[in-house]
Amino acid sequence: MSESVLYGGGSTARVRVHHLQQAKSRGERWAMLTAYDTYAAAVFEEAGIPVLLVGDSAGNVVLGHTSTVPVTVEDLLLMTKAVTRSTTRALIVADLPFGSYEVSAEQAFGTAVRMMKEGGAQAVKLEGGARVAPQIRKLVENGVPVMAHIGFTPQSEHALGGFRVQGRGAGAEQLLADAHAVEEAGAFAVVLEMVPAAIAGQVTEELSIPTIGIGAGAGCDAQVLVWPDMAGLTSGRVPKFVKKYADLRAQLLAAAQEYATEVRDGVFPGPEHSFD
Ligand code: KIV
Repeated sequence: MSESVLYGGGSTARVRVHHLQQAKSRGERWAMLTAYDTYAAAVFEEAGIPVLLVGDSAGNVVLGHTSTVPVTVEDLLLMTKAVTRSTTRALIVADLPFGSYEVSAEQAFGTAVRMMKEGGAQAVKLEGGARVAPQIRKLVENGVPVMAHIGFTPQSEHALGGFRVQGRGAGAEQLLADAHAVEEAGAFAVVLEMVPAAIAGQVTEELSIPTIGIGAGAGCDAQVLVWPDMAGLTSGRVPKFVKKYADLRAQLLAAAQEYATEVRDGVFPGPEHSFD
């Protein structure tokens, strides 16, 4: 596969998990973004983002919850369908929400099958290291590509004592063990969230599968951000690891205010927006 397939330059071929593996071998970095709806998915694909994640961060940024915990399979299925209908080239990864895979490998497989058959996703993501290795193995053996997620895992925020950097000090050993466990179980990539840059760099060197960092420094093979955070749509404080590439909230606010004013003042609709 040429570089252009991963980055979209002229190619319409679907990005597949082996392309990400090849990118790692070539030392090429790539970007992943979350997507939850048709417009964002289409825009990000047009921008050349090779992998889109229908993340359970939707709980916070779409559904108005204060965490990812309440997100359901039905919530993510609806969004996965919208994203897969709106894209042809990006690899679409659907998150498995809290409570939909932890009980057993069979439960995980049942949920993953729904994300692929009903949602149209080409891969799934689940949170956890060694403890979910049986789930990863079962899915991979049965044809489901799995992206793992270790370090800070938002679904476990209450057990982890809130949003805290993971893998510091004695935690580094556990993080490395988890990284190796998910690779051995067959994951095609692993998200490293809120992990010291040096440890993330070490994991990236030790693993043969791509690492995708979020708050894990520049040494990862790829990066991921939650799109309303990176586009400046999120209100209030965003985590330290977020870079704002636009200020959509301010632009949307100004547009809505101008529209309201023009309606109030009788400026909109004008003759050009009306029918004879
Ligand atoms: O749900 C999500 O958006 C995620 C990313 C932050 C990796 O898990």
